[in-house]
Amino acid sequence: MKIGILTGGGDCPGLNPVIRAVVRTAMNDNQTIVGIRHGWKGLLDKETKPLDLKSVSGILHKGGTILGTSRTNPYKKEGGVEIVKKNLAELGIDALVAIGGEDTLGVATNLYKEGVKVVGVPKTIDNDLGATDFTFGFDTAINIVMECIDRLHTTAESHDRIMVVEVMGRHAGWIAAYSGIAGGADYILIPEIPIDAKEVCKSIQSRHERGKNFSIIVVSEGAFFKDENVCLQEKNLDEFGHVRLGGIGQTLGKLIEDTTGFETRVTVLGHIQRGGTPTAFDRVLGTRFGVKAYKLIKAGSFGKMVSLKGNQIVDVNLEDATKELKTLDLDLYEMSKIFFS
Ligand code: F6P
Repeated sequence: MKIGILTGGGDCPGLNPVIRAVVRTAMNDNQTIVGIRHGWKGLLDKETKPLDLKSVSGILHKGGTILGTSRTNPYKKEGGVEIVKKNLAELGIDALVAIGGEDTLGVATNLYKEGVKVVGVPKTIDNDLGATDFTFGFDTAINIVMECIDRLHTTAESHDRIMVVEVMGRHAGWIAAYSGIAGGADYILIPEIPIDAKEVCKSIQSRHERGKNFSIIVVSEGAFFKDENVCLQEKNLDEFGHVRLGGIGQTLGKLIEDTTGFETRVTVLGHIQRGGTPTAFDRVLGTRFGVKAYKLIKAGSFGKMVSLKGNQIVDVNLEDATKELKTLDLDLYEMSKIFFS
């Protein structure tokens, strides 16, 4: 069997551990593996990279993806799907492992319905994919943000300042909530609940009345004020119809400073959250996902996505993963409020 493997969408720590695990498991079984460059783009351009034990040696701890990635949508190209199918046949690829988030796996779901033998692996720092408890990349991202919040604490305290930290996560507040709880944030703002500016400022003021001279506010890039829209970096949509979020931190920071009179600074963490070495959790999760993905292919079980349920790696229907966005568990958010102000 010849197995193709691709990584699509935004990169994240843990992609290389998945690639390594698929290659190692498949090669133990004497199968041939070929890497497809830059996600679905590589199947449109027929751009591949041979993969063997040597090419995956030493990549476990490396962030990013040795295959490259892109946000290319073959369904948005004239005749794109036919080209993908033709190129798969010409490359002699019998089965495909697609590693990605909602967009990449959405394409995989549709291709499966059109007869392509594909298995999905859930990736995203945002943790917003359904049908899995966690995606890999998320743990690394929240640990990076937590460390940044720890660092912001000391400078905030030294200067008697409010620090607003804008984090990624798109339209789900997982990164904000987990990193905010872990970092001891004094307020966390998420896309699932519109920002009540008065409430945020009141909370900061009451904290200062209690004798605290600084505060840390974590805001998700997708959070927005009541009756207003999300803040955008640019209006153009990508091939999957996504906007580029960003800017809520600055707007919120100014509002807090103007309302409370407390000096405020804003930090936008951006792609720092996606870079660098994966945590042990993400290396192990990626490895378990990769091994399971190969097993599904070997069993001829296509149209599935590997998934973490509790502590078990299971398989679910690809379709279930992308049916709807997995937004933040609001019980967790309610709990985090105990620590506000
Ligand atoms: O989906 C992952 C993610 O990092 C989001 O949190 C963020 O909004 C987006 O990707 C940024 O995308 P890009 O890398 O295209 O700027």
